[in-house]
Amino acid sequence: MAILPIVTWNDPVLKQKTDPVQENSQELQTLIDDMFDTMYHASGVGLASPQIGRRLRLFVVDADEISQEYDEPSFGPMVFINPEITRKGGEVVSMEEGCLSIPEVRDDVKRPSEITIRFLDRNFQEQKISFDGLLSRVIQHEYDHIEGILFLDHLSAFRRRLHRSKLRKIEEGSMKTDYPLVEKRDLKSK
Ligand code: NI
Repeated sequence: MAILPIVTWNDPVLKQKTDPVQENSQELQTLIDDMFDTMYHASGVGLASPQIGRRLRLFVVDADEISQEYDEPSFGPMVFINPEITRKGGEVVSMEEGCLSIPEVRDDVKRPSEITIRFLDRNFQEQKISFDGLLSRVIQHEYDHIEGILFLDHLSAFRRRLHRSKLRKIEEGSMKTDYPLVEKRDLKSK
């Protein structure tokens, strides 16, 4: 079990496509445990593998704490391996998002309210589940990460400019967070 440093928005790994997970292994299970530890430690509701520097089609979600506030069903900790969103539907809804890779920056993002997603759970059992509400939102945000998309990419140039000084601070490594970020010098050695 380990808390891993989180990659920030300016790291190229967050823009790259990811590869499918090939097989179940002890290493994979440890990685999943570490991703949960890292997410909970940072008080996040989701974490995708590129955010800890791994280019895999893998993310974890646990939005139970907020789901209760929204009076939505609890799913507990969920692991999405090699997921594919097979349907998007419902209304397009605007909701404020944040991201552990973009600390202190929050903005409204428009997304469809409903999705159906097919994936392998951590036991490599195939699942196909439809989500709406908050979980649909969180899952779409994490799914974007494994497609190399950040929530910033959904914002207009105008909205993005409003966040410029914070983004620069993150890039320079001077944004204070209560969870570890990948340091600038680590980026250069990649
Ligand atoms: Ni994110």
